[in-house]
Amino acid sequence: MTCRPAIFSMTPPAAGGVQITAKENRRILLTSRPVDLAGPDNFRIEQTSVPAVHDGTALVEIEMAALSAWQGMRTKDFKNFIRPFDIGELISCDTFGRVIDSRCDALPIGACVVGRQGWQDYALVTPEQVSIVPDAYTAEEWLTVLSSPGQTPYLAYSQKAKPTPGDTLVVTSAAGAVGSYAVQLGLLAGAHVVGIAGGADKTAFVRDTLGAHAAIDYRKPGFRQALAEACPDGVDLYFDLVGGDTADAVLENLAKRSHVLLVGRVAANNSPTPEQDPANMRHVWSQEATIHAFNRYAYKELYPWVIDRLGKLLRDGRLRMHNNLESGLEATPATLNAMLSGKYIGKVLVRYGEPDGTRV
Ligand SMILES: NC(=O)c1ccc[n+]([C@@H]2O[C@H](COP(=O)([O-])OP(=O)(O)OC[C@H]3O[C@@H](n4cnc5c(N)ncnc54)[C@H](OP(=O)(O)O)[C@@H]3O)[C@@H](O)[C@H]2O)c1
Repeated sequence: MTCRPAIFSMTPPAAGGVQITAKENRRILLTSRPVDLAGPDNFRIEQTSVPAVHDGTALVEIEMAALSAWQGMRTKDFKNFIRPFDIGELISCDTFGRVIDSRCDALPIGACVVGRQGWQDYALVTPEQVSIVPDAYTAEEWLTVLSSPGQTPYLAYSQKAKPTPGDTLVVTSAAGAVGSYAVQLGLLAGAHVVGIAGGADKTAFVRDTLGAHAAIDYRKPGFRQALAEACPDGVDLYFDLVGGDTADAVLENLAKRSHVLLVGRVAANNSPTPEQDPANMRHVWSQEATIHAFNRYAYKELYPWVIDRLGKLLRDGRLRMHNNLESGLEATPATLNAMLSGKYIGKVLVRYGEPDGTRV
Protein backbone atom coordinates (compact mmCIF):
# COMPACT_ATOMS: atom_id res chain seq x y z
CA MET A 1 0.00 0.00 0.00
CA THR A 2 1.61 3.27 -1.07
CA CYS A 3 0.61 6.65 0.28
CA ARG A 4 -1.83 7.74 -2.42
CA PRO A 5 -4.12 10.70 -1.85
CA ALA A 6 -7.48 9.98 -0.30
CA ILE A 7 -7.62 6.30 -1.17
CA PHE A 8 -9.31 5.46 2.10
CA SER A 9 -11.14 8.69 2.78
CA MET A 10 -14.88 8.50 3.23
CA THR A 11 -15.28 11.37 0.76
CA PRO A 12 -12.76 13.10 -1.52
CA PRO A 13 -10.77 15.91 0.10
CA ALA A 14 -12.26 19.36 -0.49
CA ALA A 15 -10.90 22.81 0.24
CA GLY A 16 -11.06 23.45 3.97
CA GLY A 17 -11.58 19.81 4.94
CA VAL A 18 -13.68 16.74 4.12
CA GLN A 19 -17.22 15.89 5.02
CA ILE A 20 -17.04 13.02 7.46
CA THR A 21 -19.88 10.76 6.49
CA ALA A 22 -18.95 8.02 8.94
CA LYS A 23 -21.24 8.14 11.97
CA GLU A 24 -18.98 6.42 14.41
CA ASN A 25 -15.48 5.76 15.60
CA ARG A 26 -14.84 2.21 16.84
CA ARG A 27 -12.34 2.08 19.70
CA ILE A 28 -11.05 -1.04 21.47
CA LEU A 29 -10.51 -0.70 25.23
CA LEU A 30 -8.98 -2.93 27.91
CA THR A 31 -11.60 -4.39 30.28
CA SER A 32 -9.58 -6.93 32.34
CA ARG A 33 -6.03 -8.16 32.81
CA PRO A 34 -5.05 -11.55 31.33
CA VAL A 35 -3.39 -14.26 33.42
CA ASP A 36 -1.07 -15.34 30.60
CA LEU A 37 -1.95 -14.14 27.08
CA ALA A 38 -4.27 -11.23 26.25
CA GLY A 39 -7.23 -12.18 24.06
CA PRO A 40 -10.78 -11.15 23.07
CA ASP A 41 -12.14 -11.61 26.64
CA ASN A 42 -9.92 -8.80 27.88
CA PHE A 43 -11.27 -6.10 25.55
CA ARG A 44 -14.49 -4.42 24.45
CA ILE A 45 -15.42 -2.26 21.47
CA GLU A 46 -16.81 1.19 22.13
CA GLN A 47 -18.62 3.14 19.44
CA THR A 48 -18.32 6.90 19.69
CA SER A 49 -18.77 9.76 17.27
CA VAL A 50 -15.88 10.77 15.05
CA PRO A 51 -14.02 13.56 16.91
CA ALA A 52 -14.37 17.09 15.52
CA VAL A 53 -11.23 19.04 14.70
CA HIS A 54 -10.50 22.28 16.51
CA ASP A 55 -7.65 24.80 16.18
CA GLY A 56 -4.23 23.13 16.26
CA THR A 57 -5.52 19.60 15.60
CA ALA A 58 -6.14 17.29 12.66
CA LEU A 59 -8.29 14.20 12.13
CA VAL A 60 -6.43 11.07 11.05
CA GLU A 61 -8.14 8.10 9.42
CA ILE A 62 -6.14 5.05 10.51
CA GLU A 63 -5.44 2.65 7.70
CA MET A 64 -3.09 0.10 9.21
CA ALA A 65 -1.94 -0.95 12.69
CA ALA A 66 1.09 -2.94 13.80
CA LEU A 67 0.64 -5.58 16.51
CA SER A 68 3.56 -5.98 18.90
CA ALA A 69 4.52 -8.15 21.84
CA TRP A 70 4.71 -5.05 24.08
CA GLN A 71 0.95 -4.58 23.73
CA GLY A 72 0.38 -7.93 25.45
CA MET A 73 2.95 -6.97 28.07
CA ARG A 74 1.13 -3.70 28.86
CA THR A 75 -2.21 -5.44 29.44
CA LYS A 76 -0.61 -6.86 32.61
CA ASP A 77 0.24 -4.84 35.70
CA PHE A 78 3.88 -5.34 36.64
CA LYS A 79 6.94 -3.15 37.09
CA ASN A 80 8.35 -2.33 33.70
CA PHE A 81 10.01 0.33 31.56
CA ILE A 82 6.56 1.58 30.59
CA ARG A 83 3.32 1.79 32.58
CA PRO A 84 0.59 -0.81 32.05
CA PHE A 85 -2.57 0.10 30.15
CA ASP A 86 -5.30 1.25 32.54
CA ILE A 87 -8.58 -0.63 32.63
CA GLY A 88 -10.85 1.27 30.23
CA GLU A 89 -7.92 2.69 28.24
CA LEU A 90 -7.71 2.66 24.44
CA ILE A 91 -5.07 0.14 23.32
CA SER A 92 -2.09 1.93 21.85
CA CYS A 93 -0.01 0.65 18.95
CA ASP A 94 1.98 1.94 15.99
CA THR A 95 -0.32 3.10 13.20
CA PHE A 96 -0.21 4.45 9.67
CA GLY A 97 -2.97 6.87 8.62
CA ARG A 98 -3.96 9.86 6.56
CA VAL A 99 -5.04 13.35 7.56
CA ILE A 100 -8.63 13.79 6.37
CA ASP A 101 -9.54 17.03 8.13
CA SER A 102 -7.32 19.69 9.62
CA ARG A 103 -7.19 23.01 11.39
CA CYS A 104 -3.45 22.87 11.72
CA ASP A 105 -0.94 24.11 9.09
CA ALA A 106 1.63 21.50 10.11
CA LEU A 107 -0.76 18.63 9.25
CA PRO A 108 -2.25 19.29 5.82
CA ILE A 109 -5.14 17.21 4.46
CA GLY A 110 -3.86 14.21 2.53
CA ALA A 111 -0.62 13.89 4.53
CA CYS A 112 0.39 10.35 5.50
CA VAL A 113 1.33 10.03 9.14
CA VAL A 114 2.71 7.44 11.53
CA GLY A 115 2.16 7.55 15.27
CA ARG A 116 0.72 5.60 18.20
CA GLN A 117 -2.97 6.15 17.46
CA GLY A 118 -3.95 2.60 18.43
CA TRP A 119 -6.98 0.40 17.98
CA GLN A 120 -9.52 2.89 16.59
CA ASP A 121 -10.81 4.13 13.23
CA TYR A 122 -10.09 7.84 13.67
CA ALA A 123 -7.84 9.89 15.93
CA LEU A 124 -7.70 13.59 16.69
CA VAL A 125 -4.01 14.50 16.78
CA THR A 126 -1.64 17.41 17.36
CA PRO A 127 1.61 17.74 15.36
CA GLU A 128 3.59 16.36 18.33
CA GLN A 129 1.66 13.08 18.25
CA VAL A 130 2.44 12.05 14.66
CA SER A 131 5.20 12.25 12.06
CA ILE A 132 4.44 13.05 8.44
CA VAL A 133 6.09 10.38 6.29
CA PRO A 134 7.08 10.69 2.63
CA ASP A 135 5.43 8.38 0.12
CA ALA A 136 8.78 6.87 -0.87
CA TYR A 137 7.79 3.92 1.32
CA THR A 138 4.56 1.95 1.75
CA ALA A 139 2.46 1.69 4.91
CA GLU A 140 3.82 -1.85 5.45
CA GLU A 141 7.39 -0.60 5.15
CA TRP A 142 6.80 2.29 7.57
CA LEU A 143 5.33 -0.07 10.17
CA THR A 144 7.95 -2.82 9.92
CA VAL A 145 11.47 -2.57 8.57
CA LEU A 146 11.61 1.23 9.10
CA SER A 147 10.01 1.05 12.54
CA SER A 148 10.64 -0.96 15.71
CA PRO A 149 11.25 -4.37 14.03
CA GLY A 150 14.10 -3.09 11.86
CA GLN A 151 15.28 -0.22 14.05
CA THR A 152 15.66 -2.29 17.22
CA PRO A 153 18.39 -4.68 16.02
CA TYR A 154 20.07 -2.01 13.89
CA LEU A 155 20.37 0.33 16.87
CA ALA A 156 21.28 -2.44 19.33
CA TYR A 157 24.08 -3.68 17.07
CA SER A 158 25.37 -0.25 16.07
CA GLN A 159 25.14 1.41 19.49
CA LYS A 160 25.80 -1.43 21.96
CA ALA A 161 27.43 -4.59 20.58
CA LYS A 162 28.35 -5.15 16.93
CA PRO A 163 28.36 -8.56 15.30
CA THR A 164 31.68 -8.91 13.50
CA PRO A 165 32.73 -11.26 10.69
CA GLY A 166 33.19 -14.79 11.96
CA ASP A 167 31.48 -14.12 15.32
CA THR A 168 28.86 -16.61 16.39
CA LEU A 169 25.63 -14.67 16.88
CA VAL A 170 22.61 -16.35 18.48
CA VAL A 171 19.15 -14.77 18.05
CA THR A 172 16.06 -15.93 19.96
CA SER A 173 12.50 -15.58 18.60
CA ALA A 174 14.42 -15.57 15.33
CA ALA A 175 11.28 -15.98 13.18
CA GLY A 176 9.53 -13.06 14.90
CA ALA A 177 9.08 -9.42 13.97
CA VAL A 178 12.30 -8.12 15.56
CA GLY A 179 14.19 -11.43 15.44
CA SER A 180 13.87 -11.84 11.67
CA TYR A 181 15.70 -8.50 11.18
CA ALA A 182 18.24 -9.33 13.91
CA VAL A 183 19.11 -12.45 11.89
CA GLN A 184 19.29 -10.62 8.53
CA LEU A 185 21.41 -7.75 9.90
CA GLY A 186 23.72 -10.22 11.64
CA LEU A 187 24.24 -12.05 8.34
CA LEU A 188 24.93 -8.75 6.55
CA ALA A 189 27.62 -8.05 9.18
CA GLY A 190 29.29 -11.36 8.30
CA ALA A 191 28.44 -13.21 11.52
CA HIS A 192 27.84 -16.96 11.81
CA VAL A 193 24.15 -16.76 12.73
CA VAL A 194 22.25 -19.35 14.75
CA GLY A 195 18.52 -18.68 15.11
CA ILE A 196 16.30 -20.20 17.80
CA ALA A 197 12.56 -20.50 17.21
CA GLY A 198 9.57 -22.69 18.12
CA GLY A 199 8.52 -25.40 15.64
CA ALA A 200 9.59 -26.88 12.31
CA ASP A 201 7.96 -24.20 10.12
CA LYS A 202 9.74 -21.42 11.97
CA THR A 203 13.15 -23.07 11.97
CA ALA A 204 12.77 -23.82 8.25
CA PHE A 205 11.96 -20.13 7.69
CA VAL A 206 14.98 -18.98 9.71
CA ARG A 207 17.35 -21.32 7.88
CA ASP A 208 15.94 -21.42 4.33
CA THR A 209 14.31 -18.01 3.90
CA LEU A 210 16.38 -15.76 6.16
CA GLY A 211 19.56 -17.70 5.42
CA ALA A 212 20.81 -18.36 8.97
CA HIS A 213 23.67 -20.87 9.19
CA ALA A 214 21.67 -22.97 11.66
CA ALA A 215 18.17 -22.89 13.15
CA ILE A 216 17.20 -24.73 16.30
CA ASP A 217 13.77 -25.59 17.69
CA TYR A 218 13.77 -24.80 21.43
CA ARG A 219 10.65 -26.93 21.94
CA LYS A 220 12.26 -30.11 20.61
CA PRO A 221 13.97 -32.67 22.89
CA GLY A 222 17.72 -32.38 22.56
CA PHE A 223 17.57 -28.59 22.16
CA ARG A 224 20.52 -27.90 24.46
CA GLN A 225 22.74 -30.41 22.69
CA ALA A 226 21.75 -29.11 19.24
CA LEU A 227 22.56 -25.58 20.38
CA ALA A 228 25.99 -26.57 21.69
CA GLU A 229 26.74 -28.38 18.40
CA ALA A 230 25.71 -25.32 16.37
CA CYS A 231 28.09 -23.10 18.39
CA PRO A 232 31.26 -25.23 18.72
CA ASP A 233 33.45 -22.19 19.55
CA GLY A 234 30.88 -20.67 21.88
CA VAL A 235 28.50 -17.74 21.47
CA ASP A 236 30.21 -14.36 20.92
CA LEU A 237 27.04 -12.28 20.77
CA TYR A 238 23.59 -13.20 22.03
CA PHE A 239 20.58 -11.12 20.88
CA ASP A 240 18.05 -12.08 23.54
CA LEU A 241 14.35 -11.41 22.93
CA VAL A 242 12.83 -14.03 25.22
CA GLY A 243 14.78 -14.69 28.44
CA GLY A 244 13.65 -17.67 30.53
CA ASP A 245 14.86 -21.25 29.97
CA THR A 246 15.88 -20.55 26.37
CA ALA A 247 18.20 -17.76 27.51
CA ASP A 248 19.74 -20.00 30.15
CA ALA A 249 20.58 -22.57 27.48
CA VAL A 250 22.34 -19.87 25.43
CA LEU A 251 24.21 -18.47 28.45
CA GLU A 252 25.65 -21.94 29.09
CA ASN A 253 27.43 -21.63 25.71
CA LEU A 254 28.87 -18.13 26.03
CA ALA A 255 32.41 -17.67 24.72
CA LYS A 256 35.05 -15.87 26.77
CA ARG A 257 34.42 -12.08 26.94
CA SER A 258 31.26 -12.40 24.90
CA HIS A 259 28.36 -9.94 24.77
CA VAL A 260 24.67 -10.31 25.60
CA LEU A 261 22.10 -7.86 24.23
CA LEU A 262 19.03 -7.90 26.51
CA VAL A 263 16.30 -6.71 24.19
CA GLY A 264 13.06 -8.50 25.19
CA ARG A 265 11.55 -10.83 27.81
CA VAL A 266 8.76 -12.64 25.94
CA ALA A 267 8.90 -15.81 28.03
CA ALA A 268 8.34 -14.01 31.33
CA ASN A 269 5.92 -11.44 29.89
CA ASN A 270 3.67 -14.19 28.55
CA SER A 271 3.75 -16.23 31.77
CA PRO A 272 1.37 -15.84 34.73
CA THR A 273 4.36 -14.58 36.79
CA PRO A 274 6.03 -11.92 34.63
CA GLU A 275 7.93 -10.44 37.61
CA GLN A 276 9.88 -13.69 37.92
CA ASP A 277 12.51 -13.84 35.23
CA PRO A 278 15.40 -15.82 36.66
CA ALA A 279 18.54 -16.42 34.68
CA ASN A 280 21.64 -18.31 35.68
CA MET A 281 24.38 -15.68 35.97
CA ARG A 282 27.11 -18.28 36.62
CA HIS A 283 28.14 -18.51 32.97
CA VAL A 284 28.03 -14.74 32.47
CA TRP A 285 30.43 -14.41 35.38
CA SER A 286 32.72 -17.32 34.50
CA GLN A 287 33.04 -16.18 30.88
CA GLU A 288 33.48 -12.50 31.86
CA ALA A 289 30.65 -11.63 29.51
CA THR A 290 29.17 -8.14 29.21
CA ILE A 291 25.43 -7.63 29.41
CA HIS A 292 23.97 -4.68 27.50
CA ALA A 293 20.38 -3.79 28.36
CA PHE A 294 18.87 -2.16 25.29
CA ASN A 295 15.79 -0.01 24.79
CA ARG A 296 15.12 1.63 21.41
CA TYR A 297 13.38 4.62 23.03
CA ALA A 298 16.75 5.78 24.37
CA TYR A 299 17.87 6.51 20.80
CA LYS A 300 15.08 8.73 19.45
CA GLU A 301 17.53 11.26 18.03
CA LEU A 302 18.96 8.48 15.80
CA TYR A 303 15.61 7.44 14.26
CA PRO A 304 16.04 9.55 11.05
CA TRP A 305 19.54 8.16 10.56
CA VAL A 306 18.50 4.54 11.12
CA ILE A 307 15.44 4.92 8.84
CA ASP A 308 17.76 6.16 6.11
CA ARG A 309 20.13 3.21 6.62
CA LEU A 310 17.34 0.62 6.72
CA GLY A 311 15.58 2.17 3.72
CA LYS A 312 18.74 1.86 1.63
CA LEU A 313 19.22 -1.79 2.65
CA LEU A 314 15.59 -2.48 1.77
CA ARG A 315 15.76 -0.80 -1.64
CA ASP A 316 19.08 -2.54 -2.39
CA GLY A 317 17.32 -5.86 -1.76
CA ARG A 318 19.63 -6.69 1.15
CA LEU A 319 16.80 -6.67 3.72
CA ARG A 320 13.46 -8.40 3.17
CA MET A 321 10.12 -7.90 4.95
CA HIS A 322 8.08 -10.86 6.13
CA ASN A 323 4.63 -9.59 7.03
CA ASN A 324 1.19 -11.01 7.75
CA LEU A 325 -1.55 -8.61 6.68
CA GLU A 326 -4.84 -9.28 8.49
CA SER A 327 -8.10 -7.42 7.95
CA GLY A 328 -10.52 -5.85 10.39
CA LEU A 329 -10.27 -3.69 13.47
CA GLU A 330 -12.78 -5.79 15.41
CA ALA A 331 -10.70 -8.95 14.96
CA THR A 332 -7.62 -7.25 16.40
CA PRO A 333 -7.83 -8.72 19.95
CA ALA A 334 -8.01 -12.27 18.52
CA THR A 335 -5.17 -11.48 16.15
CA LEU A 336 -3.05 -10.19 19.07
CA ASN A 337 -3.75 -13.42 20.96
CA ALA A 338 -2.68 -15.51 17.95
CA MET A 339 0.47 -13.41 17.63
CA LEU A 340 1.38 -13.79 21.30
CA SER A 341 0.72 -17.56 21.02
CA GLY A 342 3.44 -17.73 18.36
CA LYS A 343 1.14 -18.53 15.41
CA TYR A 344 2.75 -16.07 13.01
CA ILE A 345 6.09 -15.88 11.24
CA GLY A 346 7.35 -12.28 10.89
CA LYS A 347 5.39 -9.13 11.67
CA VAL A 348 1.61 -8.91 12.09
CA LEU A 349 -0.24 -5.93 10.61
CA VAL A 350 -3.98 -5.24 10.61
CA ARG A 351 -5.71 -3.22 7.91
CA TYR A 352 -8.64 -1.11 9.11
CA GLY A 353 -9.66 0.16 5.68
CA GLU A 354 -10.07 -1.45 2.27
CA PRO A 355 -8.84 0.13 -0.97
CA ASP A 356 -12.49 0.88 -1.92
CA GLY A 357 -12.80 3.13 1.14
CA THR A 358 -14.86 0.81 3.37
CA ARG A 359 -13.85 0.37 6.99
CA VAL A 360 -13.24 -3.25 8.04
N1 LIG B 1 14.19 -3.29 23.67
C1 LIG B 1 13.53 -2.76 22.67
O1 LIG B 1 13.75 -1.61 22.28
C2 LIG B 1 12.48 -3.59 21.99
C3 LIG B 1 11.89 -3.16 20.79
C4 LIG B 1 10.95 -3.99 20.18
C5 LIG B 1 10.59 -5.20 20.77
N2 LIG B 1 11.17 -5.56 21.95
C6 LIG B 1 10.84 -6.83 22.60
O2 LIG B 1 11.24 -7.86 21.72
C7 LIG B 1 10.46 -9.01 21.98
C8 LIG B 1 9.93 -9.56 20.66
O3 LIG B 1 8.97 -8.65 20.16
P1 LIG B 1 8.29 -8.89 18.74
O4 LIG B 1 7.25 -7.81 18.60
O5 LIG B 1 9.32 -9.06 17.69
O6 LIG B 1 7.52 -10.26 18.97
P2 LIG B 1 7.68 -11.62 18.15
O7 LIG B 1 9.05 -12.14 18.39
O8 LIG B 1 7.24 -11.42 16.75
O9 LIG B 1 6.57 -12.52 18.81
C9 LIG B 1 6.75 -13.13 20.02
C10 LIG B 1 7.36 -14.52 19.82
O10 LIG B 1 7.87 -14.94 21.06
C11 LIG B 1 8.07 -16.32 20.98
N3 LIG B 1 7.82 -16.90 22.30
C12 LIG B 1 6.67 -16.87 23.00
N4 LIG B 1 6.83 -17.50 24.19
C13 LIG B 1 8.12 -17.92 24.23
C14 LIG B 1 8.89 -18.62 25.19
N5 LIG B 1 8.37 -19.03 26.34
N6 LIG B 1 10.18 -18.87 24.91
C15 LIG B 1 10.72 -18.48 23.75
N7 LIG B 1 10.02 -17.80 22.79
C16 LIG B 1 8.74 -17.54 23.04
C17 LIG B 1 7.07 -16.84 19.95
O11 LIG B 1 7.86 -17.39 18.89
P3 LIG B 1 8.22 -18.95 18.89
O12 LIG B 1 7.06 -19.62 18.25
O13 LIG B 1 9.48 -18.98 18.13
O14 LIG B 1 8.33 -19.34 20.33
C18 LIG B 1 6.38 -15.60 19.44
O15 LIG B 1 6.16 -15.64 18.05
C19 LIG B 1 9.41 -8.58 22.97
O16 LIG B 1 9.81 -8.93 24.28
C20 LIG B 1 9.37 -7.09 22.84
O17 LIG B 1 8.89 -6.45 24.00
C21 LIG B 1 12.10 -4.79 22.56
